[in-house]
Amino acid sequence: MISYPSRKDLIQRVYDHKQEHIFAFWDRLSDAGKSALLDDAESIDFDLLTRLYTQAGQSTPVTMGFEPAPYIPIPSGAEELRRFDSARAAGAGVIRRGAVAAFVVAGGQGSRLGFDGPKGLFGVGSVSGKSLFQIHAEKILQSSKKYGTSIPWLIMTSRANHEDTVRYLASRRYFGLDERDVYIFPQSMIPSLDAGGRLILESPSAIFKNPDGHGGSLGALAESGTLAAMRERGIEIISYFQVDNPLVSIIDPVFIGFHEQGGADISSKGLMKAYPSEKIGVFVRFDDGTIGVVEYSDLPEHLQNLRDTDGRLRFCMGSIAIHLFSVDFLEKITGGSALSLPFHIARKKIMSHTASGPAEIEGFKFEKFVFDALPLTEKNIVLEIIREDEFAPVKNPSGVDSVESARELMTALFRRWLDGRGIPIPPRVKRLEISPLLALEAADVPPSIKVPDTENVYLE
Ligand code: UTP
Repeated sequence: MISYPSRKDLIQRVYDHKQEHIFAFWDRLSDAGKSALLDDAESIDFDLLTRLYTQAGQSTPVTMGFEPAPYIPIPSGAEELRRFDSARAAGAGVIRRGAVAAFVVAGGQGSRLGFDGPKGLFGVGSVSGKSLFQIHAEKILQSSKKYGTSIPWLIMTSRANHEDTVRYLASRRYFGLDERDVYIFPQSMIPSLDAGGRLILESPSAIFKNPDGHGGSLGALAESGTLAAMRERGIEIISYFQVDNPLVSIIDPVFIGFHEQGGADISSKGLMKAYPSEKIGVFVRFDDGTIGVVEYSDLPEHLQNLRDTDGRLRFCMGSIAIHLFSVDFLEKITGGSALSLPFHIARKKIMSHTASGPAEIEGFKFEKFVFDALPLTEKNIVLEIIREDEFAPVKNPSGVDSVESARELMTALFRRWLDGRGIPIPPRVKRLEISPLLALEAADVPPSIKVPDTENVYLE
């Protein structure tokens, strides 16, 4: 057994859990390295990892029965349109009184995109080259102006990208937002395990950990003190979105209005699944009456393909990770700090530091999912949105859900905005981008605007 007199108990714990291989390079470590490795080990909940590893070997089917969740559909008749107008007016009132904050989760590793740096720095603007963070910041800034208030922006990072994110946003002066309205905090990390249930070394003095999933955001909000700060500012609703969707409507008065009028704990946006095997979770109502999301991988094939008599998919309402959380509800479930959402287990390739250098190994990563908070609600609303208007995830460098597809979707949306306002678009125009600082929705586009006769058009 290695020796480090002041940390005897901890070292014993590591040996008791048969994880002593983390000391493989002990003799080569400096004092600072030894102490860093022990600090790393100190933060580990060994019992939790043992439990998760046992679960990793078993399949975890959804144990309860479920049916499709109810949702508010896209309005068609006059009466539904009136309901939407009333929701919009109510939501605008909530925003105006400064009760809404925007919350982006940006702690993910973005491994599919393969971009070197935090995903929020990725230049997605098809003409302007603006980064995802800039587009989000400008939407929040413009919403603040439109509703005569200052909307705080909460940003969750993780250990790997926190410093870069903080530095980037400061160097770009928060894209015009007041620094006091920007709250940046990292999420927690959890160690991954190799196929044999052993901890993995990232370097001789560090244990490999991954961010604890977007579901870690709710605990991180509370633990970082940001939830308390929001309460202090009079925030009632936190508008949650993912960093990689440039089409997201961050401050949406209709959505906020339905949430407010319905007295919901969480409200969620959903969209019609495009085809049965589409890889998005679906909203369901479990047999105990709670609302939740069943991941695509957990929805048996026969249920994926099941259709109602009108030919529509029975489980049709897909979740796109856009939610409103009421601050009262978040305080209740986090109790000011911890929140124990379940961990999901994924088999992944992980870089491990071995005696012969770095090597890719098979292992398990553990992540919490934010939609697991849904069954904790008493009142929940799902609002259907039009996919092309609000959803353009940037996950891959090309193909499906890629930078290219997002840019095309953005151009197509801005074209629809101009068409809807009767503003002519010269045939030569290929790429079209409208700055959030000019318009947040079609109705904001000034009718007098002229579109130049060039291939790439940027309206600001
Ligand atoms: P994804 O599930 O797409 O993961 O995250 P990712 O890490 O960004 O990308 P891949 O899978 O490695 O390619 C959806 C959203 O949740 C955030 C991401 O930043 C993104 O906004 N997220 C994910 C976190 O904030 N923390 C996490 O631990 C995981």
